[in-house]
Amino acid sequence: MALLPILCYPDPRLHKVAQPVQVVDARVHALIDDMLETMYEASGIGLAATQIDVHERLVVIDTSEERNQPIVLINPEITWMGDERVKGEEGCLSVPGIYDGVERATAVKVAALDRSGQHRTLEAEGMLAICIQHELDHLMGKVFVEYLSPLKQGRIKTKMVKAQKAER
Ligand code: NI
Repeated sequence: MALLPILCYPDPRLHKVAQPVQVVDARVHALIDDMLETMYEASGIGLAATQIDVHERLVVIDTSEERNQPIVLINPEITWMGDERVKGEEGCLSVPGIYDGVERATAVKVAALDRSGQHRTLEAEGMLAICIQHELDHLMGKVFVEYLSPLKQGRIKTKMVKAQKAER
């Protein structure tokens, strides 16, 4: 297993649209293991392949307190979204230190392949439902800050670029 570098906003590679995973093989299993390790190490609740510069429809999630209930979604598609919406504070491993309110559906159903390549459907609500929507956005090349006002986005971009320069 290996820790993978996470792309940071405003890296243009975060806006690439992911392609479906063709076959769930040893390569994909290794990628899943590395993504889980990277997500846990960074104390994140979700990580999309896009964030590690792999542009395939693959996400890992764990919203459990104990950090021992990993969910793997391969080629996920939201098949149903509840009408009720809620504005909650979100953050992202690709936008470290930034948290802001985003409105999302409170419940979703998602169809995906699991780690063994089996078709699954998952009904989610609360934090898991929000996390699924956030991660699936990544696969479409969308980062949560793009829901914020242009003014806020500009400020965040400036802050991120500054922080990345300071790191070098
Ligand atoms: Ni994110």
